[in-house]
Amino acid sequence: MSLDYTTVAKTIAALTEGESDAVALMATVACELHHSDDRFDWTGFYRVVAPELLKIGPYQGGHGCLQIPFSRGVCGAAAREGAVQLVADVEAFPGHIACATSTRSEIVLPVWNADHVLIAVLDIDSDQPDAFTQDDADQLAAILAQVFGRI
Ligand code: SME
Repeated sequence: MSLDYTTVAKTIAALTEGESDAVALMATVACELHHSDDRFDWTGFYRVVAPELLKIGPYQGGHGCLQIPFSRGVCGAAAREGAVQLVADVEAFPGHIACATSTRSEIVLPVWNADHVLIAVLDIDSDQPDAFTQDDADQLAAILAQVFGRI
């Protein structure tokens, strides 16, 4: 099934009300998104833990790489540029990090806190080619702003 963003945003808002711990919030968002859409085969966060370095955070799906420098992969590009990466074909993306050979497309969004500090990226990988649209980018960005823009 495909995701009803209005419903999932409401569920996430209800579940995370009053919570300000970043990892607790990431775990809840990863779980709710992952189980809401069949396109999502890996859904999770990489946290900014040092200058130019991402480390694995809460996720759903098979194991991910533990560290990704800002200089590498789609996640690194999202962190470096502070911009959403919509990748229709991962094999066409220079430097894509293949954690699962089944991944065909992905979307990665920057995650900012209330002070507009980059705290993480949200990475969603799909086994389907060209799985994500600009509408996914807009709706996911709105959820991230709602949850992390207040901590
Ligand atoms: N798609 C990512 C890495 C994959 S994961 O570790 C699940 C990238 O190239 O940034």
